[in-house]
Amino acid sequence: MHELIVRGGFPLKGTVKVKGSKNAALPIIAASLLTDEPVFIEDVPDLLDVRDMLAVIGSLGASVKYSHTDEIITVHSLKLDSVEPPGYLVQRMRASFLVLGPLLARLGKASISLPGGCAIGSRPVDLHLKGLAAMGAEFSVSGGFIEGKTAGRLRGAHIYLDYPSVGATENIMMAATLAQGTTVIENAASEPEIVDLAGFLNSCGARVSGAGTNSIRIDGVLDLGGTRYAVIPDRIEAGTLLICSAVTGGDITVTNLVPEHLNPLVAKLRETGVNVEEVDYSAIRVTGNSQTKAVDLKTLPYPGFPTDLQPQFSVLLALSKGTSMVTETVFENRFRHVDGLLCMNADIQVEGSHAVIRGRQNLSGAPVLASDLRAAAALLCAALAAEGITVIGEIDHLWRGYSCFEERLTALGAKLQRVKISKSEHSDQAQA
Ligand code: EPU
Repeated sequence: MHELIVRGGFPLKGTVKVKGSKNAALPIIAASLLTDEPVFIEDVPDLLDVRDMLAVIGSLGASVKYSHTDEIITVHSLKLDSVEPPGYLVQRMRASFLVLGPLLARLGKASISLPGGCAIGSRPVDLHLKGLAAMGAEFSVSGGFIEGKTAGRLRGAHIYLDYPSVGATENIMMAATLAQGTTVIENAASEPEIVDLAGFLNSCGARVSGAGTNSIRIDGVLDLGGTRYAVIPDRIEAGTLLICSAVTGGDITVTNLVPEHLNPLVAKLRETGVNVEEVDYSAIRVTGNSQTKAVDLKTLPYPGFPTDLQPQFSVLLALSKGTSMVTETVFENRFRHVDGLLCMNADIQVEGSHAVIRGRQNLSGAPVLASDLRAAAALLCAALAAEGITVIGEIDHLWRGYSCFEERLTALGAKLQRVKISKSEHSDQAQA
């Protein structure tokens, strides 16, 4: 366990390059189980979630090499000898459920621990199972495990998702690549990470079209081959950095991003009065404005405002003049950063899926606890902007999704220090 000591109040300045996308890399790693040929995945950031996903596919028999310095992963799933990833990994990271589709498609069976609730909400998997069942998979639940099996090859099907779930779209899309016949997913998720997964699958010889729209068609093939593929830049990391610039009154240029992926954030930043400049086709510069104003915000599936940036954007609203209303529609429990922000003198009232934020001139440093990945990112944004010192406990959550983040923020002028704390200190903090 670690905590992060942040001395706030320094405008961040400079240029920073975005790393590869966590939420694109995780399904692509799962998809590498679909082929018995070697797969090279480039631009994969060194994150706790990536390491966990590699441990999951390694536990199934895939051979995995990760060159941390080059950020290249080599996966060779020549022979898979297990269909049951360890329960503790599935519990720790829900994305490990994404091996279900590939296992059913390749081996015709899978046994996966039921992913329980998590900090940001209950997050069921009913849509994953319904879609795969329409393709001929049968499921039973016993002893906390979901057992899935198919009689022979999966069959293409016409699937309508009740909600455009990212994970369900990914699981069904992966399974459908090796199914007999054509699968159409209606009301599919259209996030850039879905488009990236389709790009990876097609580079292995799959026939996926329509990714990025709400209707995806997959014509099944007999087998997939190896490939070399680079994942897209992480739009959430990019957005977090742009918000860090806005809240510290800084001047940061974020490079290696896809501006289109950040349209919803850029629109909202401009509405608050922050200066946003598209420097070129892969860079955005944000210059802070000390007089930002309140705006209302609603999270939605892409191309709506991403839930993964709502906590960080709320920090900007906590420092903007007037009253903002934030409505969270994707996860039921994504206001866990608010407790920490209240300790830092923010004025926020949460009722159900709404947060009413009354802007203050300043936030002040305080001891706070990070409860999940994006809450950790939000508290870090707040700490960088606040007067005085903030100590963020349980900062390890941050490393699930942000690689070398302290080092990169330090290069922009942040004053940070990571401290390792003992188990007893940690339990004292948790009780406090
Ligand atoms: N849902 C269901 N049934 C299902 C699946 C989802 O009811 O079978 C509900 C969920 O409970 C949730 C909503 O649908 O309320 C959205 O879930 P979705 O399946 O779209 O999300 P996910 O696949 O679990 C991915 C990202 C999340 C990101 C969401 C939304 C990965 C590994 N995770 O999760 O990322 O917030 O899409 O964009 O891609 C993060 O990076 O911090 C993170 C949580």
